[in-house]
Amino acid sequence: MRTADASLIAARGTRALLGLALLSTLMSIFICAQARQTLGEDLSADTSVHAQHAVVVAENAEAAAAGVEILKAGGNAIDAAVATSLATGVTHATSCGLGGGGFMLIYSARTGKFYALDYRERAPLKATCTMFFHDGKPDEEMARNGGLAVAVPGEVAGLDAALSRFGTMKFQQVAAPAIRLARDGHPIGEHMARGIAYMAPQISEDPGLKSVFLKADGSAPKIGDLIFQKKLAATLISLGNHPADKFYHGKLASQLSAFIQAHGGIISTADFAAYQPVWREPLHRAYLGEEVYVMPPPSSGGVVLEMLGMLEPGRLAGLGVNSPPYLARLIEVMRQGFVDREKYADPAFVNVPIATLLSPEHINQARDRALHHNLPAPDPTAAHDHGTAMLAVADSEGNVVVATTTINTIFGSKLMDPESGIILNDEMDDFAVAKGVPNAFKLEGVVRNEIAPGKRPLSSMSPTIVVKNGKPILAVGGSGGPTIITGVLQVVLDVVDYHMEPRAAVDLPRIHEQGVPDVVLIEQAMPAAARTALSEMGYKIRVVPMLGAVGAITIEPGNLRGAGDPRKGGMAAGY
Ligand code: GLY
Repeated sequence: MRTADASLIAARGTRALLGLALLSTLMSIFICAQARQTLGEDLSADTSVHAQHAVVVAENAEAAAAGVEILKAGGNAIDAAVATSLATGVTHATSCGLGGGGFMLIYSARTGKFYALDYRERAPLKATCTMFFHDGKPDEEMARNGGLAVAVPGEVAGLDAALSRFGTMKFQQVAAPAIRLARDGHPIGEHMARGIAYMAPQISEDPGLKSVFLKADGSAPKIGDLIFQKKLAATLISLGNHPADKFYHGKLASQLSAFIQAHGGIISTADFAAYQPVWREPLHRAYLGEEVYVMPPPSSGGVVLEMLGMLEPGRLAGLGVNSPPYLARLIEVMRQGFVDREKYADPAFVNVPIATLLSPEHINQARDRALHHNLPAPDPTAAHDHGTAMLAVADSEGNVVVATTTINTIFGSKLMDPESGIILNDEMDDFAVAKGVPNAFKLEGVVRNEIAPGKRPLSSMSPTIVVKNGKPILAVGGSGGPTIITGVLQVVLDVVDYHMEPRAAVDLPRIHEQGVPDVVLIEQAMPAAARTALSEMGYKIRVVPMLGAVGAITIEPGNLRGAGDPRKGGMAAGY
């Protein structure tokens, strides 16, 4: 049935050209409104901002405000990004924090260059590729819960490296909003309240998590209740102005290693001492006359570039945003992108043929496959709920930062060191536990991404900056495992191809297809007609309440617009 898709798409596309192109703007307004209603959003609640000088987008209002506070105090975008990351680690402690890691893409107005900072977690030095085998069989749960699931955190080293190289403030200055939120309490948002309620049975088994995230009677807190993280506040203060030294070489490293080992893990003080963030060369590729910059491997930024490359000759604008031919084309391109994602991994351990993957020849072949593809459609499987958070900052000097930070799945390894208040990641699950064994995001394990000592696991996090005439015009990032890749792609298309403002682009219903399992996840806010049309084309679809969160900023001198994603309580702030 799928082999007929190319002609079907073409026929429907031609018929759609006149009507849908004219209606696309109208449709997007209607669909956005519908999306926000479906998410339970108050339509008058605005997650966007229009500002003259600077904008911060984060996954909650407190984190965005932290960034703006630092900008108003004279900090630049890098200072604000570090402040926002630290604040998000408090207010979205379910998603990210000092016990995790991330990627940061920076445009420096001073040098006119892009910089990619990798502070992804690493496998412990004693790790082996069979460490998650039990009685000769792979046991994925061991990679998701408990001490063995923890990879060496990179967050503190990364934030320190970014601040030291491009910031203007001391660590304690940029940590001040996070310390305040942790010490004095912060109201719990809907996303975090939902996560805590869902995870309450597991949280109650960990004394550290239980003491912070459950009430004295063991019940889950409600939206708006205050959460206090006093131990975490004290830890942030104890990091002083040389946080990487304190975190990786002192008492804290010994304490965290002992805690992880007491819970079955293998991380030692030698792992902390050996951790280093890596400055990498960003990847970039032209798209419709603009240049798109992304993180290189072990991120999945290259996959976003490949997907854009496959879409470019089709001139999507004529199809009408979220029209059936548009969505069908996206699905096929996403599927091919995920086929190639299997070639990505830590470049220090495997040769990632990035020049080939981004070459016109390869992208044309992938595009050809996208138009003549025929895969069996196995049973649909739900996307997993997740940790991870995005943030983006554009300042008045022209600096731009997009970062994505994570402890992997919700509450990471489900372990909090009770002394430091640090929640430890379960990033080992982003490796291939064994060939063919899916991780929490249903991404099947491949040999390139197998575990090795000191290796970084492949990530879907894809901070992205679009450039016109050498200057950033769009910053986009997302959270939500593999839906980051497809979410970032769709928001870039909404802005570049359809000239939408960030709020409309972010709100628009999205789809996700990752090849295996071969099922198209469609947000329920997508109009029923589009869902029916895709089913009639033979796609196996599964309607989900919502996919991952994406935030965006569009940048013109004196005219900045940002939008956080209402799906997760995101917010933009600026002045
Ligand atoms: N931990 C999710 C990712 O990096 O893709």
